[in-house]
Amino acid sequence: MGWMYRNILRPLLFMQDSEKIHNQTLNALAWASRNQWVGGALSSAFHSKALPIELFGLRFPNPVGLAAGMDKQAAAIPIWASLGFGFTELGGVTWHAQPGNPSPRMFRIVRDEALINRMGFNNPGAETMATRLAEWKAGGHWPNHPIGINLGKSKITPLTEAAMDYSNSLRVLWPYADFFVVNVSSPNTPNLRQLQDKSALDEILAALHEVNTAISNASVTPHPLKPILIKIAPDLSFEALDEILELTKPRHIAGIVATNTTITRPSTERPESKQLYLETGGLSGRPLASRSTEIIRHLYRQTRGTLPIIGVGGIFNATDAWEKISAGASLLQIYTGLVYEGPGIAKKIVSGLSQQLLKYGFTDLSQAVGCKSK
Ligand SMILES: Cc1cc2nc3c(=O)[nH]c(=O)nc-3n(C[C@H](O)[C@H](O)[C@H](O)COP(=O)(O)O)c2cc1C
Repeated sequence: MGWMYRNILRPLLFMQDSEKIHNQTLNALAWASRNQWVGGALSSAFHSKALPIELFGLRFPNPVGLAAGMDKQAAAIPIWASLGFGFTELGGVTWHAQPGNPSPRMFRIVRDEALINRMGFNNPGAETMATRLAEWKAGGHWPNHPIGINLGKSKITPLTEAAMDYSNSLRVLWPYADFFVVNVSSPNTPNLRQLQDKSALDEILAALHEVNTAISNASVTPHPLKPILIKIAPDLSFEALDEILELTKPRHIAGIVATNTTITRPSTERPESKQLYLETGGLSGRPLASRSTEIIRHLYRQTRGTLPIIGVGGIFNATDAWEKISAGASLLQIYTGLVYEGPGIAKKIVSGLSQQLLKYGFTDLSQAVGCKSK
């Protein structure tokens, strides 16, 4: 399937605008999500073997998840498990519905296996998203793997009111996710990344913990707190990362998602790539891989492996995945790799990771986490 996708289907898809293809594919997957027969067929073709890992009280059937931004609107929620993913992160979702930036806003740099996007959190808003998720649940289509929701800040909300914006979203979406990710690292909302500064982030995390505790205590049957993670930019200095780490214990942070897209650009002599790299936005895919691994390694070493890390950035195959696991990531996520490698990517990576474990004599995935960073 990988060969067929790369050599036949992908060239056809890549002849068209990337956001258009993204939307058409999501529409097709949304349809497949409601059709049991198609879902079953996809599941038989792409189901990953078991490679379980437990983190922050959740059991992941395998460590390869779908990254935020692919299914922003929960359009195809059951299908990602059928495509072999071990968990899904929906969103980013903001408190207010918003259209995002004007098109075109997603670009492929095919020779470098990269994307640049400046979507700007186009999403229906947290309340509409909650209604949609309630419908999926009521329809019996909920996937049997953990669901996370990526929370962003609405463009119209000033930075000084960011804590309220994030916590409003958490309040309405709380019943529908197993974990939440606070996204303060998208380069496409003006000044959002300033919220990674220690005091601004502290205020947001404090507000989120308050909401989390209040809802959890108010549940008829006591419900544990929902794990809240922070997603960081790859462009932060190690000093800035260390400041964020200082907040994780006092603010009950369950883990770090490393990383979002980068605003830096690689050097290239190819004129067509040079031109595309002039586009404003976040760069993902192959050129991001080594920086994101470097950050994972730093976080793992600084925390001595005590804080779970979700590694994301430029994962295309089992070798890339192993790099991230052995640097310190316990879970992985993929966006750009899915666009370039096609729907068999999760299954292939999970199978490659299982072989790596055997090769190194590990009996459990958790033993491999950080094995090259100790
Ligand atoms: C088109 C697009 C939209 C994205 N939207 C979001 C988003 O809403 N929230 C977020 O945290 N990350 C978002 N991301 C970042 C990805 O989740 C991921 O962190 C990044 O692309 C690096 O992984 P990759 O190299 O596998 O693509 C987006 C990425 C792309 C390409």
